[in-house]
Amino acid sequence: MNMNKNKVDVKIETKKGSMDEWPEPVVRVQSLAESNLSSLPDRYIKPASLRPTPAQDAAAATNIPIIDLEGLFSEEGTSDDVIMARISEACREWGFFQVVNHGVKPELMDAARESWREFFHMPVNAKETYSNSPRTYEGYGSRLGVEKGASLDWSDYYFLHLLPHRLKDFNKWPSFPPTIREVIDEYGKELVNLSGRIMRVLSTNLGLQEDKFQEAFGGENIGACLRVNYYPKCPRPELALGLSPHSDPGGMTVLLPDDQVFGLQVRKDDTWITVKPHPHAFIVNIGDQIQILSNSTYKSVEHRVIVNSDKERVSLAFFYNPKSDIPIQPLQELVSARSPPLYPPMTFDQYRLFIRTQGPQGKSHVESHISPRPR
Ligand code: OGA
Ligand code: NI
Repeated sequence: MNMNKNKVDVKIETKKGSMDEWPEPVVRVQSLAESNLSSLPDRYIKPASLRPTPAQDAAAATNIPIIDLEGLFSEEGTSDDVIMARISEACREWGFFQVVNHGVKPELMDAARESWREFFHMPVNAKETYSNSPRTYEGYGSRLGVEKGASLDWSDYYFLHLLPHRLKDFNKWPSFPPTIREVIDEYGKELVNLSGRIMRVLSTNLGLQEDKFQEAFGGENIGACLRVNYYPKCPRPELALGLSPHSDPGGMTVLLPDDQVFGLQVRKDDTWITVKPHPHAFIVNIGDQIQILSNSTYKSVEHRVIVNSDKERVSLAFFYNPKSDIPIQPLQELVSARSPPLYPPMTFDQYRLFIRTQGPQGKSHVESHISPRPR
């Protein structure tokens, strides 16, 4: 049979719907917030078991580790054992930590966040030209996953690619405010750089050569993208979530939180810890791909976002990912007869496709990917 004659436009259809369009008309959370609703639409009301609980005193007193990176990246190459050990513990116990003295200029961090705030303050109509589809998610969006009738989160977002270069397309980036593209570009480069440095620490801490993780990620050919989250004021914050519990599917995430408004919560055992951002710190967390490479020594921990009724919140999540078409599996150096590989190889493209059809689902993605236990 001559295949060329039968060329068809292949559409990926899944049990949960088409990947080319959203299953329902898109509603911008910003529009809902601006319409002075007296009650929350049903789609945003979470079942009682998922609703945010008022902060307990013990949990309110804890915070994720705050680590000062000063000295770690010094020219002489001297590494500070105490800092290395703190990062190691944070990756194993928390999957999350804040970093200060990370080398990114505070002015650039503020410029990036405030440019995006201006973008989100534009009328919804002006942003619709950038509206996204579930195939690539690039652009302006208001939901994750394509399941019809799914419960929705109280946030809008913007998603774009920084690397690889062939996916970086300025036409898919906002053009307002006028300096935003320049600012994102510079911010992206700084974060790629910072992430590369942290990756070396993560490798070294496992007794590996410092470039091991980076090599496993495809060396120069890694992926990097940005998701900017906009959480408008919510009329009934006790019933809703800004972002449902999930672990990040990629390699590592570097989050720039809002400097004024709390919202991120990290699961620690059975409680949700509210992160108190340190001024001009970044919040770093391990994603599923590093959990897989490390054979679960490092933890990709579940987190969620709560909202409130008197302040909006803007955050920038930068994702540092493996090259999308190379199989990711536990590093050979980390597996043995006594600790067999917990995950079979899977490319990030395959992994992401699976996630994009479903939306946030706690840790179920990485957990369902576990290898069958050898008998
Ligand atoms: C994310 C995320 C947290 C936040 O975008 O994956 O977890 O504080 N964001 O917005
Ligand atoms: Ni996340």
